Amino acid sequence: MKAVILAGGEGTRLRPLTLTTPKPVVPIVDRPFLRHQLDMLDQAGVSEVVFSLAYRPERIEAVFGDGRALGKHIRYVVEETPLGTGGAVKNAEPHLDDVTIVFNGDVLTDVDLAAVVRGHRDSGASATIVLTPVPNPAAYGLVEFDGAGRVTRFLEKPDPAQITTDTINAGIYVLQTSTLELMPAGVNHSIERAFFPALLRRGDRVMSHVHRGYWIDIGTPEKYLQCHRDILGGRFRVALDGDAISGGWAHRDAVVEGAELTGPFYIGPGCRLAAGARIGPGAVLTQSVQVAAGAEVGDSVVWAGSVIGPGARIDGALLGAAVRIGRDVRVGPGAVLGEGALLPDFTRCGG
Ligand code: GDD
Ligand code: MG
Repeated sequence: MKAVILAGGEGTRLRPLTLTTPKPVVPIVDRPFLRHQLDMLDQAGVSEVVFSLAYRPERIEAVFGDGRALGKHIRYVVEETPLGTGGAVKNAEPHLDDVTIVFNGDVLTDVDLAAVVRGHRDSGASATIVLTPVPNPAAYGLVEFDGAGRVTRFLEKPDPAQITTDTINAGIYVLQTSTLELMPAGVNHSIERAFFPALLRRGDRVMSHVHRGYWIDIGTPEKYLQCHRDILGGRFRVALDGDAISGGWAHRDAVVEGAELTGPFYIGPGCRLAAGARIGPGAVLTQSVQVAAGAEVGDSVVWAGSVIGPGARIDGALLGAAVRIGRDVRVGPGAVLGEGALLPDFTRCGG
């Protein structure tokens, strides 16, 4: 059994953050996103992983290398032009064996992957799809199933009138690799729109595994911020790299003395807070962020190397790497600043 992680999308909804940092390696509190998926594969005893890439593959390879440091063997398959979610899996076929786990490279979940694999083997299914209930299913792939858990219909991004269920495709599949014979080679196609419907038409047994725990697609600014709130709030459990202080976490290589800290927050390695800086609930400073006296950061994610000037206030915002925020600037809810953005003194934006 091996895994394929689909990580070739351009992450358009997370622009401008993803213009320089592809979605698979955006920091989630203290680590690049795909580390969470590699940890999940550990539970199921999977160590051989194919990263299927198209957009900025070099940035992703630079982060994970051959995977040895994480106890994995990672292979990179890079598309010249994007092949879609189906074409990408087909493209990885030469590196696979009997059973393949497929992950969308942007879902964060605590699903019990070992139990999904066990269920798949016990049912003798051709494919098992992890489903999860969500309040607004229209933005996802809708999946209907019968009383025995057998999938009966797959409907990607339905019109509101077609919504018949709240269970959606969670972006995690276990496939008998032999089913890839239904996929055309070398052409762009969608696993959701083409492959699953084709499997159902052929009469294959496709089973569901409904997950009612934590699940989020990090692909929009709102969801990206939300998953940080969820980690800080303990709704998604991660052992963060830091010491517990004042209701939050600070890395041992961060300077926080004299700052006013109100948890939960995360202050990463190399961060320097001036005396009188205020770090409020929901603040994540990933790495080497400087916050000046009188500045305040809450409910926001600030990437490596950013500098927050005196008296500035950041709330409900996403700040990419090496952003410079001047004196008394206000950055409010919904603001997303790309790498290297420079906000002159007294600027107001967002909110
Ligand atoms: N290699 C490769 N090549 N990967 C791709 C390509 C491609 O051409 N296109 C997309 N991907 C990757 C993306 O990087 C992402 O990790 C994953 O495939 C899914 O693509 P998204 O663009 O994020 O799709 P979505 O979120 O709109 O919908 C998908 O995910 C939902 C759950 O989050 C579908 O699978 C839905 O059915 C599902 O409900
Ligand atoms: Mg997505």
